[in-house]
Amino acid sequence: MSYPSWLNEMIRCPETGKPLKQSGDLYVREDGKQYKMTDGILSAVYPETLSGEDAQMNQTYELLAPFYDFFERITWKLFIGSDIVKDRSDIVSQIKFEPGIKLLEVSPGSGVFQNALREKVSDKGEIVSLDLSMNMLRQCQKRHKTLNIHLIHGNAQHLPFEDNSFDGLFHFGGVNYGLVSWGDERFSPDYPNNFRKSLLSKLNPGFLKPMPEIPTEVYDVQVKEVYKVHAYLVTARKK
Ligand SMILES: C[S@@+](CC[C@H](N)C(=O)[O-])C[C@H]1O[C@@H](n2cnc3c(N)ncnc32)[C@H](O)[C@@H]1O
Repeated sequence: MSYPSWLNEMIRCPETGKPLKQSGDLYVREDGKQYKMTDGILSAVYPETLSGEDAQMNQTYELLAPFYDFFERITWKLFIGSDIVKDRSDIVSQIKFEPGIKLLEVSPGSGVFQNALREKVSDKGEIVSLDLSMNMLRQCQKRHKTLNIHLIHGNAQHLPFEDNSFDGLFHFGGVNYGLVSWGDERFSPDYPNNFRKSLLSKLNPGFLKPMPEIPTEVYDVQVKEVYKVHAYLVTARKK
């Protein structure tokens, strides 16, 4: 399994931003540094050894990967009382991605948004999904064999692509080009101070985080409450 030529052309070293030459399953930098593709997934992670919170969270996601989708469906049903699969599809329906675009999805997890994203960009569009957890990417591969989504093992903070390669970016649940959308869990400022709020903030302090600042490089910004006001979604265009 290999990537199409348009994708190979945009792949760069995540450390230096320099081009990589493909040779079989290896992507090789001018000085000989190699990144390897295994079972159709190129691993281009920088730094190679994770530290601090990245390392801790990565360990958790590696273990959680096979159960992630099930876990999310159950917890959402029990604690929020909604159908997360429907909520995800509603989120994607609110984004103005045009059919046929080249979309980068950052942090797909086990691929929970990928059906809806493929529908949105249609068969004419291209999707590349990048995640720091190889086990999550393997779940995407297992679950979405027919979606034609290219998977890359990488760190969103050191993307292994040439700048401005994509027409759109979708990210939900963790990080901050064309068309941009990102979102995460967070209580709305109007959220009532009730038992559910205290329970959810104990289960996941992420609900208490403020929304990150909106970069000045974007315009046409819209902020919406989603997941029944348990999360926000930002859609914007890059100047
Ligand atoms: C909570 S899951 C979100 C998955 C999915 N987007 C969702 O909304 O359910 C977070 C995902 O982000 C990935 N992740 C965390 N830090 C990352 C980073 N620096 N670069 C790429 N992926 C990262 C994790 O491996 C994990 O799969």
